[in-house]
Amino acid sequence: MLLDGKGTALKIRTELKTETAALLAVRGRAPGLAVILAGDDPASRIYVRNKRLACEEAGFRSETFEKPPSVSQKELEYLVDELNARTDIDGILLQLPLFAHLDSRPLLQRIDPAKDVDGFHPQNMGRLALGLPGPRPCTPAGVMALLRHYGLSPHGKRAVVVGRSNIVGKPLALMLGADAPEANATVTICHSRTPNLREECLRADFLFLALGRPKAVGADMVKEGAVVVDVGISRTERGLCGDCDFEAVLPKAGAITPVPGGVGPMTIAMLLVNTLNAYKASLPNP
Ligand code: GUN
Repeated sequence: MLLDGKGTALKIRTELKTETAALLAVRGRAPGLAVILAGDDPASRIYVRNKRLACEEAGFRSETFEKPPSVSQKELEYLVDELNARTDIDGILLQLPLFAHLDSRPLLQRIDPAKDVDGFHPQNMGRLALGLPGPRPCTPAGVMALLRHYGLSPHGKRAVVVGRSNIVGKPLALMLGADAPEANATVTICHSRTPNLREECLRADFLFLALGRPKAVGADMVKEGAVVVDVGISRTERGLCGDCDFEAVLPKAGAITPVPGGVGPMTIAMLLVNTLNAYKASLPNP
């Protein structure tokens, strides 16, 4: 089974658009997202553009703040302060990675946790770890939503997450292992220092790949019938490519996400969900 993230994301975005139009008619204000781009990763520019287009399509207002390489840490602090104070901005997203001379950590901590639509603020990561409600990081939230959409429950199953980043691996492992009906997996986190990656992966009923290394995982690392969710996306000479060797793994997997068209579109849909939630929470009489 092919897990169609593009189609699933479109369905979520369509529902969200209808809800946004109804809220706009009553409240007289659209949800607003501010995106800060202060980095030179070429992929970031594409992500930011896609986020802006998705916002506009859903009926949100979006503002992009693109900064030159000369931007200072202080300038970004002031910008975050200004956006925190603005009542027409519900969500603030600091696109990562930043220019090398900048430090993302104090900036992420400076974002008002109520406007933290990436769920990267320590308070919101803490809420995730404690099982409290709050905005969840978009990529792992998108993975969970995609599984839910296809009725693939990791409950009681062995889940292996390859990658331990703060953006994907760590929060995804917390979500999969949460005490919740749609979670309750037994989770193993693997990383670059895991001695027997192949053996670990072979035990997975649900295998989540977030290494960022093209075709690093072959069919010999996948259990027959496993659900394979490929979060990696790399640009190669032969186009975009995930962390697994898709053609080789496809016949072995019970279900698999394509790259592109798998997890990526779900990330954007979850950003819209988080922004709409922040907007609804900011209204006087929700
Ligand atoms: N860089 C790669 N993925 C993401 C993401 O989900 N959010 C932000 N802010 N930066 C990213």
